[in-house]
Amino acid sequence: FELSKLNTLSLSGKAEYFSRFKSISELLTLLAYADKQQLNIKVLGGGSNMIVQPKVTGLVVQSAMEGVEKLSENDDSITYAVDAGLNWHQWVLKSIELGAYGLENLALIPGTVGASPIQNIGAYGVEVGQCIEEVRGLQLSTGQWMAFTADQCDFSYRDSIFKNQFKNDFLITRVIFRLSKVFKPQTSYAPLKQMAEKFVATCMDKSAESLTAQQVADWVIGVRNSKLPDPAKIPNAGSFFTNPIIPKSQADELLNKFPNMPVYAVQGIAQGNVEGSEKRVKVAAGWLIDQCGWKGKSLGLAKMHDQQALVLTLKPGARQQDLINIQQAVQADVNNKFGIQLHPEPQPFS
Ligand code: EPU
Repeated sequence: FELSKLNTLSLSGKAEYFSRFKSISELLTLLAYADKQQLNIKVLGGGSNMIVQPKVTGLVVQSAMEGVEKLSENDDSITYAVDAGLNWHQWVLKSIELGAYGLENLALIPGTVGASPIQNIGAYGVEVGQCIEEVRGLQLSTGQWMAFTADQCDFSYRDSIFKNQFKNDFLITRVIFRLSKVFKPQTSYAPLKQMAEKFVATCMDKSAESLTAQQVADWVIGVRNSKLPDPAKIPNAGSFFTNPIIPKSQADELLNKFPNMPVYAVQGIAQGNVEGSEKRVKVAAGWLIDQCGWKGKSLGLAKMHDQQALVLTLKPGARQQDLINIQQAVQADVNNKFGIQLHPEPQPFS
């Protein structure tokens, strides 16, 4: 089964077996079949965070379940259970329509609801982990149904338990979101802040009260469309590298030499709150790559995007080797200039 239409980098790869499931009973039938035939299960979401390899062994499964169910409500919040197969952006728009807020800054992120907790998707000052109450699904190695509370998911910057202890061993079927009934705009990200300030200045009653979640989502959509290529037109997987987290002392040294280098605070354990460990900060990979002259530059059939150097794009006919070549060239240049090792965000799928 050819996977090139099912991954946003449009890389060609052949899966031994492939099937979508529309219900839990269909999923259980597939798992029983795989068990009998001794096939490994590979879970595919929206294909927006993976580097498909030429040969994918075993049975690739993809959820086609898209249900949204209200579980409970109190004075401040509403919880919804959402099936893994629902497109992420559709869910963001639907949550706004339902008057359930918190996800608006995450509009237009490619992928599915089920994939969202795995790398704790984030943008414009919000990470999905902040709005998740529970993640439910099946452990593949044992066949056990399991539920993880947000704490147990161990969310941090682009990371969770599903990329570590449960890597390739958990099939997420549903995500439970706890969303706010009151819209609280999160506009700390500079471009959104400017738009919010302009909005207040031009608003009839000069108040931020009339700012709606749909308005913030529309701003986010506008910013993303101006910087990030549409995978339907130009194959890409969003940010290709994570923003590196480095010791603060190293960042301070670099700032002496490169005073314009963007540096951000990091939350949680990544910051280095263990006694004796050094404080750490996050630096902008896109800026580092841009400074090395890679913005808009090609190598073979791969190119770092004109508007955002962090986004690796592929031209028609590009193969895995084109991606590896540019990845390694960019990593080497950034390492030589800044002494920082970049790590890819998308995961290999084989
Ligand atoms: N920059 C440059 N040149 C570039 C790109 C960026 O100088 O070519 C500078 C920008 O001017 C800015 C800084 O680098 O000062 C950061 O850039 P930007 O605000 O575009 O965000 P980012 O750190 O590159 C991250 C996420 C994005 C998310 C945005 C907005 C990662 C790996 N990426 O990008 O997420 O949309 O912030 O919050 O954390 C994704 O993960 O696929 C993704 C698109």
